[in-house]
Amino acid sequence: MKHLHSITALSNQDIMDTIHRAIALKNGKMLHYGNIFTANLFFENSTRTKCSFEMAERKLGLQVIPFDTSTSSVSKGESLYDTCKTLEAIGCDVLVIRHPENEYYKQLEGLNIPIINGGDGSGQHPTQCLLDLMTIYEEFGKFEGLEVIICGDILNSRVARSNYYALTNLGANVRFVAPEIWQDHSLPASYVQIDDVINKVDVCMLLRVQHERHGDTNKGFSKESYNAQFGLTKARYDHLKDTAIVLHPAPVNRDVEIDSDLVEAPKSRIFKQMENGVFTRMSILSQVLENNR
Ligand code: CP
Repeated sequence: MKHLHSITALSNQDIMDTIHRAIALKNGKMLHYGNIFTANLFFENSTRTKCSFEMAERKLGLQVIPFDTSTSSVSKGESLYDTCKTLEAIGCDVLVIRHPENEYYKQLEGLNIPIINGGDGSGQHPTQCLLDLMTIYEEFGKFEGLEVIICGDILNSRVARSNYYALTNLGANVRFVAPEIWQDHSLPASYVQIDDVINKVDVCMLLRVQHERHGDTNKGFSKESYNAQFGLTKARYDHLKDTAIVLHPAPVNRDVEIDSDLVEAPKSRIFKQMENGVFTRMSILSQVLENNR
């Protein structure tokens, strides 16, 4: 892995190598890189991705150059390309970027600095996908034959898109649950009713209702009606197999995608995902650094 723009650029072997290295790091494998500089450029808000990248970078011994979009020269109109070229020129070795524009990384292809995508618009969220895969693999030790549902705003979700491609390539059967207005028929997955499948799935992946991307298109849904039709309620949770797990990339809209009491329920792996995010990002950063030496 020389950079990480999209999950679709990774082979199944790349994905498994990333997961195995992340698990080794979680089990105590030590990696340390001296005199390597990184910057995290977040043009959209973030808690988990930004903080866990910074944690991963510090655990690997990297020097993190603070970058705040609101006080940077981006506020004077400097382009993304010129911003990244500047950070390359002053000596950064790797950049982590989250940006609202789909495939923003294509405009950076002339740079010599590796880019790790922390989320591009409604395009891809490859590091979230890899930490989700690590969490699933830790649980089941395989992907082949797993029954997965991804529930919610498929159309606007970079997490859904990344997970659909990766899990399908790895042999899982991925189906979607979504209101009609949030269905994305460019992805060749079938849509099902949650109550028809909830007792058969191995992985129930919930998506955040992304109010910031909807404009007026979510009119007609109250929190209660979304929760009743598409959310993980206590009754649905009780129908899950004993071995099933519940994932959510977070932040969670409690009592919308999932009943508040279920966020830390025994089958929930939501905080395990966040824990695994640090080791997954350490795995990704270390591979990118080693392959760019
Ligand atoms: N899951 C995720 O990407 O969370 P943040 O937006 O807080 O980074």
